[in-house]
Amino acid sequence: MQRNLFACALAALVLATPAWSQQASDATAPEASTATSTARLVTAKSYMVAAANPIAAATGAEVLKQGGSAIDAAVVVQTMLGLVEPQSSGLGGGAFLVYYDAGRKRLTTLDGRETAPQMATPKLFLDKDGQPLKFMDAVIGGRSVGTPGTVRLLQEAHNRWGRQDWNRLLEPAAALADAGFAVSPRLAALIAEAGDGLKKYEATRNYFFDTSGAPLKAGALLKNAAYAETLRLIGERGADAFYTGRIAEAIVDTVRMAAGNPGVLVLNDLADYRVRERQPVCISYRALDVCGMGSPSSGAVAVGQTLGMIENFDIKGLGPDNPQSWRIIGDAQRLAFADRGRYLADTDFVPAPIKGLMEKDYLGKRAALLDGDKALADDAVKAGEPEWDHALLFGRDKALELPSTSHFVIVDRDGNVVSMTTTIENGFGSRLMTNGFLLNNELTDFSFETHDNGVPIANRVEPGKRPRSSMSPTIVMKDGKPLLAIGSPGGSQIIGYVTQALIAYIDWGKDVSQIVAMPHLLNRFGTFEIEAGTQAEKLADPLKALGYEVKIGDMNSGLQAIEITADGLKGSADPRREGVAIGE
Ligand code: DON
Repeated sequence: MQRNLFACALAALVLATPAWSQQASDATAPEASTATSTARLVTAKSYMVAAANPIAAATGAEVLKQGGSAIDAAVVVQTMLGLVEPQSSGLGGGAFLVYYDAGRKRLTTLDGRETAPQMATPKLFLDKDGQPLKFMDAVIGGRSVGTPGTVRLLQEAHNRWGRQDWNRLLEPAAALADAGFAVSPRLAALIAEAGDGLKKYEATRNYFFDTSGAPLKAGALLKNAAYAETLRLIGERGADAFYTGRIAEAIVDTVRMAAGNPGVLVLNDLADYRVRERQPVCISYRALDVCGMGSPSSGAVAVGQTLGMIENFDIKGLGPDNPQSWRIIGDAQRLAFADRGRYLADTDFVPAPIKGLMEKDYLGKRAALLDGDKALADDAVKAGEPEWDHALLFGRDKALELPSTSHFVIVDRDGNVVSMTTTIENGFGSRLMTNGFLLNNELTDFSFETHDNGVPIANRVEPGKRPRSSMSPTIVMKDGKPLLAIGSPGGSQIIGYVTQALIAYIDWGKDVSQIVAMPHLLNRFGTFEIEAGTQAEKLADPLKALGYEVKIGDMNSGLQAIEITADGLKGSADPRREGVAIGE
């Protein structure tokens, strides 16, 4: 069966060839909201993949059809996404995996987050006068590049739970890189919008622009021989071929020689990179267990805290059209973000009161702040005082995050479940490219400032530390079995997107296609963010009347979800991006 994998995967690619590859159409604006459109509800009996690109989803589904495991399919989906959706994730980035092992009935999380180089200092993002750099000045170039974690994560997951031959799983993406793929409308539009930053470095410029300097159009055939060669080397020699030897040397040279903004990465940073297994962070919510990624992500804690607070209110009775529902959800999110800003960072470096932050007593006290019927005043939204056994004080931080990233979910025939969020941080990462892949700018997820009024900031840069993330790959458990796998891109808005989808599913009884398409509302720092061009705009005036400042704008989530029921699987992909769910 394994011998057929490659041939079948290529056949699947032909079947999956999306409409945009048939003609060179004009690029459509990718960030324009299509949230009023509905998402397709896909049902299946035994396996399913939902990913942000149809080619990646189809090749993943083909692996499952051939009897591959969910992790085999994840290797194929990720290596394919690195080719066809290179702006969002890839070999040069990092990822978090939440995995349910059906055989052992066990939930595990693997942390493949990028790390700060050993030579990085807390002042990495300060100028010579001690002032924080402008965000994009920090992003573009070598300074922001952390040691990538995705390749080690894939290898580690495959060593534990893979079934098919590693080498062959990398072949579908290698073969497509050689043959060429049609640039998608979203990729074309993002290249066109990227500005001069994407042209700054030669390898990147040569890849994303034609010989006359024009951005590649949707439907253009794009080949990537260097990526194919990289994958085949990793296929033959494993992840070590990435973390040592000529690929590692090229990564280090690219980072250290980046004109105008070099970084401090060295070969030892790559050779020493380790994936960490972490305890899943779970909260019980209305008889379910909502589980996700703990440190260095703030995702599961912030999602869990919000749910833990709103569990004290009748959100179901109030319903999704009631501004009071959104007041409670929005102010619970603000309180969770206040705690996140003060306490959450890589717990290998700073102690964080995770247990205290998730305790129902603590969340009950925080929820009591929401008892009124008007917006909380700004000065009432402060970090709380959870139980903890360390006496450390941290200042608030103001890290900024901007769009890219991808989320995929996979369920195989045996009931193993993958929920993985994967990123190179900003769209096109650091804009540096080597060996056919883009390098991340994940280090800009650290706080640029080291102190807040003299108090150290938990998420400051430190050598070997992992920057705080908001990525929230989630698996919801019911009676010890997985019920729903979900996650999204969107920077720190991820927390709101995932929380809203969970509330819509659990409290409002919506199905997976409705929860991924539903118009967004969220509140991180006081301003209510409402998705433009959707029904949610009707809530703008009522929320203003409750005392909120309101901002209506694009909210470009990329939620993918699969529900696992006794009758089979139901899956859906966010209509705001190019994803699909495929299963059988
Ligand atoms: O780890 C994080 O939270 C961010 N680097 C993720 C970036 C992201 O989702 C960009 N979004 N569209």
